[in-house]
Amino acid sequence: MEKLLPKQNNAVFYLKDKITEELVYGGAAGGGKSALGCLWLIENCQRFPGSRWLMGRSKLKALRETTLNSFFEISALTNIQNQFKYNAQDHVIKFFNGSEILLKDLFLYPSDPNFDSLGSLEITGAFVDECNQIAHKAWQVVKSRIRYKLNEFQLTPKILGTCNPAKNWVYTEFYKKNKENNIEEYKRFIQALPTDNPHLHPSYLQALLRLDKNSRERLYYGNWEYDDDPNALISYESITNLFTNNHSEKTGKKYITADVARLGSDKAVIMVWDNYTVIDLIEFDKSRITDIQNAINALKVKHKVPNLNIVADEDGVGGGVVDNCRIKGFVNNSKALNNENFSNLKTQCFYKLADKMNNDEIFIEIELSQKQKETIIEELEYVKSYNSDSDGKMQILPKAEIKQLIGRSPDYADALAMRLYFDIKPSIKITSTQSW
Ligand SMILES: Nc1ncnc2c1ncn2[C@@H]1O[C@H](COP(=O)(O)OP(=O)(O)OP(=O)(O)O)[C@@H](O)[C@H]1O
Ligand SMILES: [Mg+2]
Repeated sequence: MEKLLPKQNNAVFYLKDKITEELVYGGAAGGGKSALGCLWLIENCQRFPGSRWLMGRSKLKALRETTLNSFFEISALTNIQNQFKYNAQDHVIKFFNGSEILLKDLFLYPSDPNFDSLGSLEITGAFVDECNQIAHKAWQVVKSRIRYKLNEFQLTPKILGTCNPAKNWVYTEFYKKNKENNIEEYKRFIQALPTDNPHLHPSYLQALLRLDKNSRERLYYGNWEYDDDPNALISYESITNLFTNNHSEKTGKKYITADVARLGSDKAVIMVWDNYTVIDLIEFDKSRITDIQNAINALKVKHKVPNLNIVADEDGVGGGVVDNCRIKGFVNNSKALNNENFSNLKTQCFYKLADKMNNDEIFIEIELSQKQKETIIEELEYVKSYNSDSDGKMQILPKAEIKQLIGRSPDYADALAMRLYFDIKPSIKITSTQSW
């Protein structure tokens, strides 16, 4: 290994300063991401005898099969294989100067939603490879464990993440903030492309160029606007078309859908529709139930919407709104209608929403702020199919997981999906008990 690539050098600057605490490096294939992380850990272990580092990835198996191999490759290139021993039983790389690197699985297991498994860990710093595959919470928990011997070595706590482009917290917290020049001082993002790495074989670059469009955009060009998740139900293009589909025909048939905030924690979103066009929208942060009722009533009068065509989620405070406004109640976990093979009514609505949107039949006509648009886009990108349950019924990614990934509840998406309820079976009154 002669020297670092220029982008890697750039990263090393932030890995050594006193300000940066979180660095994300990468955003395309082959830009030397894993190599950078391994080099950083090796240098740290050498410089700070007795220090302890975490090398993490979503799944330990993938870590052992990929990142760990990069580690061995880099240690051969730098000729330091005789400085450590890898214990495959405990997943620890022990340097003979007392430093160690712990290999950790950072997947969000349902059995350990708060990462209690990392609870007693104390580390000097962390490298998370493919950090886009872990939940933001995992990143934050790992960061909170960085304190081991920091004073002794006079170090700033640092976590390095590397990744390919992905539409999740890495996009919003690093890529986008960096692009818009409003990234916090303690966070940094460096984009490295395969073309930045002269050590790659030309045939590898050729292979990247021959990938399907989404993968090529992401992995060769480092385009963060493409997400190739095969589970996504709505194409990215159709999501962005939501704001330009002005061909969508208005019929004068009006509806109101309301996603009502629960326990004061979520946003309340109320949409007014003319056929499949959103013609009015009101949102509240931490709203009072009377505000929501008043808003629904005002919109109803303003747009002449019959009660039969108004729906609000019925759990929590929503139940009061439904009773007081005498409108339809929507319960997420009630049975799918018409004997269709969905795990519940909410899932059924989202699948129908995805169909409509992929045909570019839904239009948001009203002016929205850039921030609102981005929020809606992000929420719709997480409309994803999810493991079939035991009866083989179709499911979508659960709300709890989406909250983990985007850090809030997908309220706009819920309000959009509720419109499809009227297509499924308008005449039935639903009653059941779980939250939408
Ligand atoms: N500074 C360097 N000097 C020499 N070789 C390097 C350097 N950085 C990376 N490489 C080599 O380039 C190749 C790609 O690097 P690496 O595996 O780190 O990229 P990556 O971004 O992690 O790729 P992937 O997207 O496949 O995970 C590897 O063979 C690695 O050894
Ligand atoms: Mg890699």
